[in-house]
Parts: sequence; structure tokens; C-alpha cells
Amino acid sequence: MTAVRTRLLRGLIGLAILLALALAGWLGWSWYDSRLPGTYSVMDFGEPDYGGGRPSTHVHTGHGVSVADLKGPRGKADLVVTLRALETKVRLDSGKTVDALTFNGEVPGPELRVRRHGLVEVILLNENIDKGVSIHWHGVDVPNAEDGVAGVTQQAVRPGERYTYRFRADQRGTFWYHSHQFSARQVKRGLFGAFVIEPAHPPKETVDLTVPVHTLGGRQLFGRSDVLLQRTVPPRRQVRLRLINTDDVPRRFELDGAPFRVLAIDGVDLNRPTLIDGQPIELGAGARYDLGFEMPLHAVSLGLVGAKGGVVLGPRGAAPAPQKTVGPIFDPATYGAPVAAALGAKARYDRHFTVDIGRRLGFVNGRPGYHWSINGKLFPNAPVLVVRKGDLVRMTIANHSGKVHPMHLHGHHLLVLSRNGKPVSGSPWWVDILNVKADETYDVVFRANNPGVWMFHCHNLPHATDGLVTHLVYEGVTTPFRVGGHAHNHPE
Ligand code: C2O
Ligand code: CU
Repeated sequence: MTAVRTRLLRGLIGLAILLALALAGWLGWSWYDSRLPGTYSVMDFGEPDYGGGRPSTHVHTGHGVSVADLKGPRGKADLVVTLRALETKVRLDSGKTVDALTFNGEVPGPELRVRRHGLVEVILLNENIDKGVSIHWHGVDVPNAEDGVAGVTQQAVRPGERYTYRFRADQRGTFWYHSHQFSARQVKRGLFGAFVIEPAHPPKETVDLTVPVHTLGGRQLFGRSDVLLQRTVPPRRQVRLRLINTDDVPRRFELDGAPFRVLAIDGVDLNRPTLIDGQPIELGAGARYDLGFEMPLHAVSLGLVGAKGGVVLGPRGAAPAPQKTVGPIFDPATYGAPVAAALGAKARYDRHFTVDIGRRLGFVNGRPGYHWSINGKLFPNAPVLVVRKGDLVRMTIANHSGKVHPMHLHGHHLLVLSRNGKPVSGSPWWVDILNVKADETYDVVFRANNPGVWMFHCHNLPHATDGLVTHLVYEGVTTPFRVGGHAHNHPE
């Protein structure tokens, strides 16, 4: 009897050891397999997804047009600016000094303004940022070679080097620029600025104020100020406030003292915006909202819900307007009036992609963790979205990860069709960054009209570092640039 038991016990122990070895082997292999080579091309990312379209013959063959040839126009520029990337100490209005990464020594960098259709030339000079830098024109649908993604559309610009960006500013509205080399660290530490494309004939008598909002060294910046920013504005003046959330997380704003309209989102005007009063406005990371109002006799203040600081507009030395913002958060899906939008009305799409964001245990580049996934795959195995020039593309973006993800597509604007199956009923709502909350599903559509290799990633930039990244690739376009390698390209 005991002999039988002993044998059984031995058998079980043996089995347990075998299972443990198998598990260890599998874990070891998963770890080994997840490690990224020192240099790789984003063209070699996961399986191509044709969105139901016909498969391409060129995409992974290395033939075709190089992104490096998709440059902006030559000719005499209307705006010529040099941006010097410089690591330096920045002294804030409160007196606090922060070790920052800057353009031209300031955070945010210079605000660039150009008239619509103007030709822009920006010379990026890296003075002393040893990891290299680049400039991405967030929301501006530039030619691919001007998109500023290190390792995808150019080499990182090393200390002492320069790179010239040229593009025509054919949109109109509020945009921003930022480094796309080690972007999570570099943007946070200050390598960004506002970019405004004014109408060809800007309205006179309008106070036009850009307010990038950023957290630098633990201080809340409104523009360059970490204390209350005062601006004298006479009564009855029209005011346009261009809000930019350059942080990684959503920010909730309140505008007190006057009824206002949301004039534009992500650089696209809304149709027939109505007056709203006392409603909080939430901007996902990377988003821009333009607010418009007429200056009353007393002060108007802009701030973050539940926080001190902000901007006070009005008579000299005016006290901030009393806070009265309550109620439901502003919802673009039901705001303004619809337009017979050609893009949304068409029932036939050339491609339909599903991008389902989740989370699972596994290894990303040898790091074990509970990582972001796209369609169940971890970085870099997420599907690459393949399109052909001219395609009308539908994308269903679902979020089953339990966290909010501001998803940003480079080089294109997306028209939002529906949220959680409910069609958008207000103004056409265009975005270049879509704040997808937990358990939300959006349907969007866009025209594939800008050939290149374009990043599509979460703009909570540490999430991108952790692999919430894929690419939109046009058939017949390839990139000669590589992540890693001698240029040390690290877009995230
Ligand atoms: Cu604003 Cu890929 O970034
Ligand atoms: Cu995210």
C-alpha cells in the first residue's frame, strides 16, 4: 500500500517538475522572442491588415516610393523660423527654476503663426540635446517627409545637426509642434510649441490668444506662466481662445464670466456652434479647442476645474470671475448643426479596419508586464493598416483596456461617425486625436489622400512607449529609416 502511494507521489512530483520546466521554457522563449533587435524598420511590424481591400504586392518588398522623397514644396517661404533645441534652465513666473528641454530657451517654444496657404520653412538646429530631436507638426497634414518622426520619416537630429521642414499651411486653425524622438520624455520636459494657421484675412478687432496648457516640473503652465495670467481686454471685443492640451492626460477647463461657443476642434471649424454657459470643456491629451465669446464689462476667467491659476481677461487688475461651471461635460457629438457631409453619407468604404485596444500579460521588448494590446497583439506585432491612395477608409476603434487612450493618426483628419453605435447628430466633428475612454467604441472615416508611412498611436505618450503604436502604410511607399541603429532613432 505505502509502496503504491510513494510511487504515485513520485509520479506527481515528476509531473509538476516537468510542467514547471515547460512553463519556464515557454516564458523564457516569450521573453527572448519579444526582444527587439538593435535596429528595425517599422515596415517589418506585425501582419499587414488590408481592411477587406485587395492585398498589395509592394508593401513589404522594399520597392516603390521612399518617404524621404515625399517632401514639401520648394520656393520662397512666407514664414522662415529657426528653432534651436536647447537643454537649459527655465525660470518660471513663480520664481521656480526647472531643468527643461526647450526650443529657443523657452517652454513652450515660440508660437508660430502663418496665414492660410502660406509656405512654412522651419530650420531645426540641435544645440545640445544628446539623444537627438525632431519636430512633428501635430494635426497639420504635411507631406510625409515633413512629418518629423525619427526612425520613420527622418533621422533624429543629433547635436550640431540641422533639418529643414517645408510645407504649405493649407488648413486653418490651432495646431502644435513637438519632438517625436523619445517623445514621452522630450514633450513632457518642454520640447513643444503652438502652431496657428490664421485665416487668409484674419478678422480685425479680435483678441486671439493661444493657451497651451502643460505640466512642467510639477507646475501648471498656462502659456508660459505658472501663476495667474492677466490680459487687459476692452468690453465688447470678440475673443478667440485657442486651448491646447499638451499633457498626457485629459484636462477639464472652465470658462467663467461669459457665455461662449466652441468654434473649432483640432483645427477644424464647427458648423453653427451655439452659445453655452457654465459647462466644463474636456480636452483629451493633444487636443485643441477654440472658444469664442464677446467680452462683457467684467472679467472672464479660464481655468482648470478644481485647480488654481489660469487666465483672467478684462479690465486692468480685474478679479477673476466667480466660478460657476457645473453640469455635464460639453459633448461634441451633439453640438452645432449637421451638414450633408459627403464623406459620412457614403455607405461604401474601400477599407474597414477594426482597432481594438486591450491589455494583457506578456513581454514587450523583454519587459514582462500587463501591456497594451491592439487586436490582442503586443508591440510590435499589432496589425499594420494598409491603404491605397484615394481609398475611403472606415475605422472602428474600440477600447477594452479599462483606461482612456487619446488615439492620434498622423497626416490625416478623421470624421467621427458614431460613438457606441449612436450617430453624431451635431456639426461634422473632425479630429486628429480621438479621446477613447474605457469601454467606448467609435466609428470614424477618412480619405486616404496623403501617401506615406504614418504613425497611429496613443498620445498618452508613456502608453506609446509601452507599445500602443501602429502605422498606416500606403501601398507602394516604404521608409529607408530605421528605429535604433547608428542614428539612435526612438520615436516614442
Ligand atoms: Cu502629437 Cu505622434 O504625435
Ligand atoms: Cu493610451
